[in-house]
Amino acid sequence: MYKIEAIIRPHRLEAVRNALKEHDLIAITVSDCRGAGRQAAPTHTFRGSQYSHGLELRLRIEVFVNDSHLEVALDAIQEAACTGEVGDGKILVFKAEQAVRIRTNERGETAVH
Ligand SMILES: Nc1ncnc2c1ncn2[C@@H]1O[C@H](COP(=O)(O)OP(=O)(O)OP(=O)(O)O)[C@@H](O)[C@H]1O
Ligand SMILES: [Mg+2]
Repeated sequence: MYKIEAIIRPHRLEAVRNALKEHDLIAITVSDCRGAGRQAAPTHTFRGSQYSHGLELRLRIEVFVNDSHLEVALDAIQEAACTGEVGDGKILVFKAEQAVRIRTNERGETAVH
Protein backbone atom coordinates (compact mmCIF):
# COMPACT_ATOMS: atom_id res chain seq x y z
CA MET A 1 0.00 0.00 0.00
CA TYR A 2 1.17 3.47 -0.84
CA LYS A 3 0.19 7.06 -0.29
CA ILE A 4 0.66 9.16 -3.39
CA GLU A 5 0.89 12.86 -2.68
CA ALA A 6 0.93 15.28 -5.60
CA ILE A 7 1.17 19.06 -5.80
CA ILE A 8 -0.65 20.13 -8.94
CA ARG A 9 -2.00 23.19 -10.71
CA PRO A 10 -5.60 23.78 -9.58
CA HIS A 11 -6.94 23.83 -13.13
CA ARG A 12 -5.61 20.30 -13.74
CA LEU A 13 -7.68 18.72 -10.96
CA GLU A 14 -10.60 17.69 -13.15
CA ALA A 15 -8.30 16.05 -15.70
CA VAL A 16 -6.41 14.24 -12.93
CA ARG A 17 -9.63 12.93 -11.38
CA ASN A 18 -10.88 11.73 -14.77
CA ALA A 19 -7.58 9.97 -15.47
CA LEU A 20 -7.68 8.23 -12.09
CA LYS A 21 -11.31 7.21 -12.59
CA GLU A 22 -10.31 5.35 -15.75
CA HIS A 23 -8.45 2.99 -13.42
CA ASP A 24 -11.37 2.80 -10.97
CA LEU A 25 -9.54 5.11 -8.56
CA ILE A 26 -12.38 7.31 -7.28
CA ALA A 27 -11.30 8.13 -3.74
CA ILE A 28 -9.10 11.19 -3.30
CA THR A 29 -8.28 13.89 -0.76
CA VAL A 30 -7.72 17.44 -2.00
CA SER A 31 -6.34 20.38 -0.01
CA ASP A 32 -5.60 23.96 -0.99
CA CYS A 33 -1.98 24.96 -0.56
CA ARG A 34 0.60 27.45 -1.73
CA GLY A 35 4.14 26.72 -2.74
CA ALA A 36 7.33 27.66 -4.51
CA GLY A 37 9.44 25.55 -6.81
CA ARG A 38 12.91 26.23 -8.16
CA GLN A 39 11.94 29.38 -10.05
CA ALA A 40 10.47 32.62 -8.79
CA ALA A 41 6.83 32.94 -9.78
CA PRO A 42 6.49 35.04 -12.98
CA THR A 43 5.42 38.59 -12.21
CA HIS A 44 2.27 38.28 -14.32
CA THR A 45 0.94 35.75 -11.84
CA PHE A 46 1.13 38.24 -8.97
CA ARG A 47 -2.32 39.75 -9.12
CA GLY A 48 -5.51 39.74 -7.18
CA SER A 49 -5.64 37.74 -3.98
CA GLN A 50 -4.62 34.45 -5.54
CA TYR A 51 -0.93 34.87 -4.77
CA SER A 52 1.03 36.15 -1.82
CA HIS A 53 4.63 36.16 -0.61
CA GLY A 54 5.81 34.79 -3.95
CA LEU A 55 3.89 31.59 -3.36
CA GLU A 56 1.65 30.18 -6.06
CA LEU A 57 -1.74 28.63 -5.43
CA ARG A 58 -1.58 24.85 -5.79
CA LEU A 59 -3.62 21.81 -4.82
CA ARG A 60 -2.29 18.91 -2.80
CA ILE A 61 -3.92 15.63 -3.71
CA GLU A 62 -3.56 12.41 -1.76
CA VAL A 63 -4.50 9.03 -3.17
CA PHE A 64 -4.10 5.78 -1.22
CA VAL A 65 -3.46 2.85 -3.55
CA ASN A 66 -2.65 -0.83 -3.42
CA ASP A 67 0.63 -2.04 -4.86
CA SER A 68 -1.06 -3.16 -8.08
CA HIS A 69 -2.37 0.36 -8.76
CA LEU A 70 0.75 2.38 -7.98
CA GLU A 71 2.26 2.66 -11.45
CA VAL A 72 -1.00 3.32 -13.31
CA ALA A 73 -1.91 5.98 -10.76
CA LEU A 74 1.47 7.69 -11.10
CA ASP A 75 1.22 7.71 -14.90
CA ALA A 76 -2.37 8.97 -14.78
CA ILE A 77 -1.51 11.86 -12.46
CA GLN A 78 1.68 12.81 -14.30
CA GLU A 79 0.06 12.85 -17.73
CA ALA A 80 -3.09 14.67 -16.63
CA ALA A 81 -1.29 17.28 -14.51
CA CYS A 82 1.41 18.06 -17.08
CA THR A 83 1.30 21.26 -19.14
CA GLY A 84 5.02 21.15 -19.98
CA GLU A 85 5.61 24.55 -18.37
CA VAL A 86 7.78 25.06 -15.29
CA GLY A 87 5.69 24.86 -12.15
CA ASP A 88 3.71 21.74 -13.05
CA GLY A 89 4.45 20.29 -9.61
CA LYS A 90 5.68 17.09 -8.03
CA ILE A 91 4.49 13.64 -7.08
CA LEU A 92 5.81 11.81 -4.03
CA VAL A 93 5.22 8.20 -3.04
CA PHE A 94 5.17 6.97 0.55
CA LYS A 95 4.94 3.35 1.59
CA ALA A 96 1.99 2.80 3.92
CA GLU A 97 2.36 0.41 6.85
CA GLN A 98 -1.32 -0.18 7.42
CA ALA A 99 -4.77 1.02 6.38
CA VAL A 100 -8.05 0.78 8.26
CA ARG A 101 -11.57 1.35 6.95
CA ILE A 102 -13.10 3.02 9.98
CA ARG A 103 -16.68 1.87 9.32
CA THR A 104 -15.86 -1.83 9.16
CA ASN A 105 -12.39 -2.14 10.74
CA GLU A 106 -11.18 -3.87 7.54
CA ARG A 107 -7.39 -3.84 7.35
CA GLY A 108 -4.80 -3.72 4.61
CA GLU A 109 -5.43 -3.74 0.88
CA THR A 110 -9.15 -4.40 1.26
CA ALA A 111 -9.43 -1.19 3.28
CA VAL A 112 -7.67 0.85 0.60
CA HIS A 113 -9.72 -0.15 -2.43
N1 LIG B 1 11.24 20.26 -3.17
C1 LIG B 1 9.99 20.64 -2.91
N2 LIG B 1 9.52 20.65 -1.66
C2 LIG B 1 8.25 21.02 -1.38
N3 LIG B 1 7.36 21.41 -2.32
C3 LIG B 1 7.77 21.41 -3.59
C4 LIG B 1 9.10 21.04 -3.96
N4 LIG B 1 9.21 21.15 -5.30
C5 LIG B 1 8.01 21.56 -5.74
N5 LIG B 1 7.14 21.74 -4.72
C6 LIG B 1 5.76 22.16 -4.80
O1 LIG B 1 5.32 22.01 -6.14
C7 LIG B 1 4.92 23.27 -6.69
C8 LIG B 1 5.39 23.35 -8.10
O2 LIG B 1 6.77 23.13 -8.11
P1 LIG B 1 7.55 23.16 -9.49
O3 LIG B 1 6.81 22.33 -10.46
O4 LIG B 1 7.80 24.59 -9.86
O5 LIG B 1 8.90 22.42 -9.08
P2 LIG B 1 10.29 22.58 -9.81
O6 LIG B 1 11.23 21.63 -9.14
O7 LIG B 1 10.65 24.02 -9.84
O8 LIG B 1 10.00 22.02 -11.28
P3 LIG B 1 9.95 22.85 -12.66
O9 LIG B 1 11.38 23.09 -13.05
O10 LIG B 1 9.21 21.94 -13.59
O11 LIG B 1 9.19 24.11 -12.37
C9 LIG B 1 5.55 24.30 -5.78
O12 LIG B 1 4.82 25.50 -5.79
C10 LIG B 1 5.53 23.60 -4.44
O13 LIG B 1 4.23 23.72 -3.90
MG1 LIG C 1 9.43 25.44 -10.78
